[in-house]
Amino acid sequence: MVKKYLTYLFNRVNAHGIHSPFVFEFYNEVILKAKRVRQPKIEALRTTLIRSKEVITVNDLGAGSRKTSKPQRSVSQIAKHSAMSKKQGQLITRIIDFYGFKKGLEIGTSLGIGAAYMASSTHYSGISIEGCEATARIAQKNLTQAGFSNIEVRVGEFSAVLGSLPSENFDFIYIDGNHRKLPTLDYFEYALNHSTENAFIVFDDIHWSEEMEEAWEIIRLDERINLSMDLFRLGIISKRSGQRKQHFIVKF
Ligand SMILES: C[S@@+](CC[C@H](N)C(=O)[O-])C[C@H]1O[C@@H](n2cnc3c(N)ncnc32)[C@H](O)[C@@H]1O
Repeated sequence: MVKKYLTYLFNRVNAHGIHSPFVFEFYNEVILKAKRVRQPKIEALRTTLIRSKEVITVNDLGAGSRKTSKPQRSVSQIAKHSAMSKKQGQLITRIIDFYGFKKGLEIGTSLGIGAAYMASSTHYSGISIEGCEATARIAQKNLTQAGFSNIEVRVGEFSAVLGSLPSENFDFIYIDGNHRKLPTLDYFEYALNHSTENAFIVFDDIHWSEEMEEAWEIIRLDERINLSMDLFRLGIISKRSGQRKQHFIVKF
C-alpha cells in the first residue's frame, strides 16, 4: 500500500498537468472547491456514532474487515473504520451538486454516512444496498433522524438486490463493498449497463489489495470507458463516448 501511495504521489497531477478541459474543470471546480462543502449535521452524526456504546452482530457478506473477523462489532469501530471520510464525503457532495446528478445508487451502505453525503444534494434521490440487516437498520435510522428521506436502503446481498431493481439508468453510482476482484467486475458490468452516458461511476478502495488493483486495471482499460481518474482512495470512470480515451492520476 505504501509503495502504491508513493507511486501515486509521484505521478499525480494538479491543474498544470491536466490537458483535458473536462478534467481541468473537474480539478478546479470540484476537487478544489470540495473543501468548502460544510456538512455539520453529518459530521455530528459521525461523532455520535463514534461515541456509541452499541455492539451489533454483523453479517459480513463481503471481503471482510482488516481489523477484526469477529461478527460482534461495535458501532463505534464501524464508524471509525468503514464509514466514508469527511474529505471523501465533501467530494461526493460536490460532484453530485456540480454535475446536477439526480438518480444515484450506492453499493454498500454501512451506517449511512456516505448515503447522507449523497442525500444532502437537493434534487438527488437514490438507492443504497446493504447486506447486513443490523447495520442497515442503523443506517435507515440515521438517515431518517438526519431528515434525509431521499435514500431508500435495500437490504440483501448486492447481486441479488441489483438483479431485483427495476431497469433504470443512474447518473451516479458509488461502489463501496465486497472489495474482491470478480464481484467488483460484476458490479462494474451492472454499472455500465445501468448508467447514463455521462454518469460518474465511483469505486472506493481501488488500491486496497492486489485483487482491487487488478480489478481497477481491467476497469480503467475497458474500451467502453473513455475517462478514468485515479484519486488514490477513489477511482472515477465515465463512458463519455465519442471522446478520446484518457486516464489521469489526479491530486486529491
Ligand atoms: C465500506 S462499507 C460501506 C461504507 C459506506 N459506503 C459509507 O460511505 O459510509 C461496506 C458495506 O458493504 C456491505 N457488504 C459487503 N459485501 C456485501 C455483499 N456482498 N452484499 C451486501 N452487502 C455487502 C458490508 O456489510 C458493509 O456494511
